[in-house]
Amino acid sequence: MSSLLEPAIIEKGLTLRNRVAMASMTRNRCVDSFKPGPAQVRYYADRARDGPGIIVSEGIFVDWAGTDWKHAPVMASNEHAQAWRAVVDAVHNEGAYMFFQAWHAGRCQNDQMPIMKSTGRPVLAPSSVPAEDGKYHDLPGIPGHTKNAKAIENPRDVIETYRRSILLAKMAGFDGVELLCQGGYLPHQFMNSRANKRTDAYGGSVENRCRFTLELVDAISKEFGGPEFICVKISPTDVLNDSVVTFDEMQETYTYLIKELVGRKVGIINICRRGANIGAESANPEGYLSYFPRPEGYPLPSNYDPVLDFGGLVKCPGSASTLMANQDYDVEEANRLVKEGKIDLVMIGRPFIYNPDVVNRINKGVSFAKNDRGHSVYYGPYLEPDENYNDWPVAAA
Ligand SMILES: Cc1cc2nc3c(=O)[nH]c(=O)nc-3n(C[C@H](O)[C@H](O)[C@H](O)COP(=O)(O)O)c2cc1C
Repeated sequence: MSSLLEPAIIEKGLTLRNRVAMASMTRNRCVDSFKPGPAQVRYYADRARDGPGIIVSEGIFVDWAGTDWKHAPVMASNEHAQAWRAVVDAVHNEGAYMFFQAWHAGRCQNDQMPIMKSTGRPVLAPSSVPAEDGKYHDLPGIPGHTKNAKAIENPRDVIETYRRSILLAKMAGFDGVELLCQGGYLPHQFMNSRANKRTDAYGGSVENRCRFTLELVDAISKEFGGPEFICVKISPTDVLNDSVVTFDEMQETYTYLIKELVGRKVGIINICRRGANIGAESANPEGYLSYFPRPEGYPLPSNYDPVLDFGGLVKCPGSASTLMANQDYDVEEANRLVKEGKIDLVMIGRPFIYNPDVVNRINKGVSFAKNDRGHSVYYGPYLEPDENYNDWPVAAA
């Protein structure tokens, strides 16, 4: 049997039926008031059937705010929680656990997006430093991220925003929370000297830059039954949304952060190797979202793999945390790393879009189908939400 299909236990936490997790993937299809509906119930239930140990929801905003994806979900009201309850129940009926991915975009928003204008919310960030990049398909002229980011006065107010959203996630029946701390979004912005120019206890030294993320972990652990139900998703080598840093800053930041997370007995530390471009297939449709070129001046040692580099800090004697790895893993590499004891769990993303039956295929040794329909599969456009979402076949028996 594939090692990936052996069960895994998170200390004091969940017992997973196998070592595969479905990655959080924004699909931009919550067309009914930022809530999931029947299309999402079917999509997640189909993927849970004989499927992974854990399914992580698409990124869900912890407040009324958006990104360039205007149909991404929000968890800010009882109505939102009720709508997610139907999804979580369907996933549980199929035997998988479901984690809520808590998303705050920070400076990676545009204050002209309809949701920002209608709710009158400012774009909040550690400092008022605009992020490069961004593409707001629904705004005239397709501008980038806002130039009007407002520095957060008291970071604990934002932690309170997360806390309120996470209580709704608990009401919806989610089994755990994945904190999105990569991709150039809010917790990542605090950790990163490009975005964080604060001179208070949340900026400057590595301890100060990591403070927001660690206080967030503490607050959420307390509300969600303990640190064993928390997963922290990080990507030390990330380049997305103006997040690249030097190798030295990266080493210092993530060595400190991971040691602190392990010290807190966080259930899962999910390390993404985006930006390291390992196993990457560059510019071809199948390689979409595989290759993330590094800007000049930010080289990595050749073949540098952050999962192997930092993994030892998680998988060490006395650690209660499990190590999950993601970005461009195929079954063979993931199996080998599990067998060698280098990782505990693998997170798989894109293949789950075109293969509702990823785990069955692993079980039967059937290769994954590829995307043969082009880039609109991922975030749209679509005529109705089921298109390129609930219309992918399972492998023939
Ligand atoms: C369409 C799409 C949407 C994504 N949305 C999110 C998201 O909402 N939150 C997140 O943490 N990562 C997101 N990701 C990244 C995935 O979670 C995962 O880290 C990435 O796809 C690498 O895994 P893979 O190589 O197996 O696809 C997204 C990826 C894709 C392809």
